[in-house]
Amino acid sequence: MPARLVIEGGVRLRGHVEASAAKNAALPAMAASLLTAQSIVLDNVPRLADVVTMTSLLERLGAKITREADGATRLSVPSVTTPEAPYELVSTMRASVVVLGPLLARTGTARVALPGGCAIGVRPIDQHLKGLAKLGADIAIQNGYVEARASRLKGARITTDLVTVTGTENLMMAAALAEGVTVLENAAREPEVADLARLLTAMGARIEGAGTERIEIEGVAELGGARHRVIPDRIEAGTLLVAGAITGGDVTLTGVTPRHLQATLAKLEECGVSITVEGDRVRCLGPARPRPADVITSPFPGFPTDMQAQMMALLGRAEGLSKITETIFENRFMHAAELCRMGALIETDGPFAVIRGVEAYQGAPVMATDLRASASLVLAGLAARGTTEVSRVYHLDRGYEGLERKLQSLGARIERVKT
Ligand code: EPZ
Repeated sequence: MPARLVIEGGVRLRGHVEASAAKNAALPAMAASLLTAQSIVLDNVPRLADVVTMTSLLERLGAKITREADGATRLSVPSVTTPEAPYELVSTMRASVVVLGPLLARTGTARVALPGGCAIGVRPIDQHLKGLAKLGADIAIQNGYVEARASRLKGARITTDLVTVTGTENLMMAAALAEGVTVLENAAREPEVADLARLLTAMGARIEGAGTERIEIEGVAELGGARHRVIPDRIEAGTLLVAGAITGGDVTLTGVTPRHLQATLAKLEECGVSITVEGDRVRCLGPARPRPADVITSPFPGFPTDMQAQMMALLGRAEGLSKITETIFENRFMHAAELCRMGALIETDGPFAVIRGVEAYQGAPVMATDLRASASLVLAGLAARGTTEVSRVYHLDRGYEGLERKLQSLGARIERVKT
């Protein structure tokens, strides 16, 4: 059902809110169920549209997925009924590509639709395919699908040309069942990669170095079941902190892992936000008006590209000139035009955006274009004078579990209206 969010801006958010489990850790963890005939149980899979899509995809491949009484999700793939990830599912969610490595490792064959582009960029998977070929797979591209075959994958030394999160995850899962040792150089260091390695290790995999740029995987003949708790979502957490900061509020996040948020916390402090960290809680006191700051996105532990749109919303209110350099994706400024409709003064040129802060946003009807862009529009709406209506909210529902309910619990005047 199409819906929009209607926001009455101007409320300083106050209170406590709990972070959900990380979308980008839950999705590869679910795909890991393909690697074994035994069950894996994930304690805290978030209720997200992308999780529904991944559930449909895995069930199509032969998985049995149930929600346990305690809210945990049990996944078991006694046998892979078809090794094909169809276009209609992969094209709605690029993360579907993380079934490629496990399918190939488990069955020796995989037919996965090329994900194609998305709003923020072309999003090729050449690094995934080059790595799988190094592991001994025969890779062909036929009619928009990747056809991969391998009687038995063999360990290899793989250096990716660039840092790729799902590429690292695909190769790590494929290598877990390969014969011999695989070394991934230039691996992604994102916490979600380390979380996946933690699950794979609990399933019997032998992995060293996950979370660093060099991961060593000693293949085993078989993997078993495991129970796993997914890490908190550092991007949702960052988004909620910006909600506190942009409204000059006082918001405490609970159930987060602060060390996964370092770059975001440092940038918020640079903007004059007062941050207090205590255990798994982070408190944010927003200034009356943020200070300007320059942002350059880069792979973890650098400033996350998934927080760039949210930061742009905050800097749009800053007292001065800020510059954002987006180094990861080639088209991730689409929120800028919508923020300008709310009175922001932003100019973009290729990977650069220059933001001249304004005192206040004006409420306006705006349109979401992708997951994090929709979050940035909600954030601007919270701080705007008047009413903001964010349409195409399905983008938001892909990656945020009940965002408007969490914001309402902090005092925000935000309602979901079915259109
Ligand atoms: C993951 O996407 C995340 N998604 C993205 O989050 C995140 O923005 C991105 O990593 C970067 O941190 C999931 O984990 C499900 P990449 P991924 O491979 O793995 C290029 C969100 O908002 N590249 O690290 O697809 C690619 O085009 C989403 O939650 C190649 O050229 O990103 C991009 O420019 C959005 N060839 C850059 O590398 C390849 O084979 C980084 O991509 C692979 C990637």
